[in-house]
Amino acid sequence: MKTVLSGIRPTGSLHLGNYYGAIINFINMQEKYNCYFFIADWHSLTTHPDPKTLHVNVSGVLSEYLACGLDPKKSTIYIQSSIPEIAELYLLLNMHAYLGELEKTVSFKEKARQNPQNINAGLLTYPVLMATDILIHNADFVPVGKDQEQHLEMTRNFAARFNHKYGVEYFKMPAAYIHGEDELIKIPGLDGSGKMGKSEGNCVYLLDEPKTVEKKVKGALTDNGPEGENTQKPDCIENLFSILRAVSTPEVVKHYEGLWDRGEQRWYGSLKSQLAEDIIKVTNPIRERINDIRNDTKYLARTVEEGAVKARESASKTLRDIREIMGFKPF
Ligand code: TRP
Repeated sequence: MKTVLSGIRPTGSLHLGNYYGAIINFINMQEKYNCYFFIADWHSLTTHPDPKTLHVNVSGVLSEYLACGLDPKKSTIYIQSSIPEIAELYLLLNMHAYLGELEKTVSFKEKARQNPQNINAGLLTYPVLMATDILIHNADFVPVGKDQEQHLEMTRNFAARFNHKYGVEYFKMPAAYIHGEDELIKIPGLDGSGKMGKSEGNCVYLLDEPKTVEKKVKGALTDNGPEGENTQKPDCIENLFSILRAVSTPEVVKHYEGLWDRGEQRWYGSLKSQLAEDIIKVTNPIRERINDIRNDTKYLARTVEEGAVKARESASKTLRDIREIMGFKPF
């Protein structure tokens, strides 16, 4: 069975765009692949998070993913910082990563420009740590967004360089996991602009109370309705339909498409109430599970412990092989 691996940054709460754009796919992958999902808490250190909130963020994100359906019985779910083998392999791989290529990384240049007072070595070697995450389990596939493609390409470079240097074919070349067209659901924001995103402030969060969801949907930008039959929808209306297609039944979508196409859509109150109701149908059970899991510290502790045991089994085997290949011998 092929191996899929994904790292999750512990930053803030998940929104509907994360859920439809990535998490649903993770849930499905669990049936077909040997999956590793982990919280990349070491990666989050480049920005010096507050020690008082680091743990809350990590356990919050973990609870949210578990509530959505990441299943510790099907996948290996762990916290990066509980796998010391990752730190050691990172050290070894750092010896084969060159300053020139690290300095040229787009994400590094961007972060360095945004935060000139905090260009730390961890930021520079971020791609090496990410490569370590992937190579330590010799993953076949990594589901990545556009912003991570270069890091994956660097992973392949590091892997190939290592294999070449030591005359082995140890590391596989990890590939980007490409989703089928019908699996890729993009959820736009509620403000008539583009994608739903935390920094855009146009999100419905999985943790939003029903009242909050209603308020956000009611406040979404709309127009005065179509000016005739079969007109093209402006972006703000197309966006509402995109969300409707994700959360509502085909009958509901057809009903509102019909209203629009006949030029009869005037007042968006009914569409918005329906949309809010159907979003809540998706988010409410998840929100309740998140809260249950967050409070069940015993379950969380057991989950990360069992995840670490499974992850370390695979990681320590890789590390043993790499040490041997590089010439470390037991006395
Ligand atoms: N860098 C990724 C991000 O910013 C998170 C990440 C860390 C990751 N290690 C990984 C993703 C390994 C995939 C594989 O989103």
